[in-house]
Amino acid sequence: MAWTRLIALDEVPVGTARAVRAGPDDLLVCRTGADAVHVLEDVCSHDDAPIGDQEIADGMVTCPRHGARFDCATGDVRRSPAPVGIEVFPSRIEAGWIEVELED
Ligand code: FES
Repeated sequence: MAWTRLIALDEVPVGTARAVRAGPDDLLVCRTGADAVHVLEDVCSHDDAPIGDQEIADGMVTCPRHGARFDCATGDVRRSPAPVGIEVFPSRIEAGWIEVELED
């Protein structure tokens, strides 16, 4: 496991989600508060669509294809048609950057 720098904190305004690629991984950085960030896989569990850049509503992101919603903090499904949640990775803010801990 190693920490990977993803994106500067000030490039992700509070209340938004930004798609970021880290090596082979498509990730979604969600900033739900000034010091609250979450990093999820950016792949919808319904039909593998990217969830992508967007505004966060009630702590959730919405898949643009069929409207499934996922909790930013837990990855849990909050609205169908997604059958299961999406993965959430350990994340932190370090020296003005959002970092994620990924498997080597
Ligand atoms: S691909 Fe995301 S809701 Fe269908």
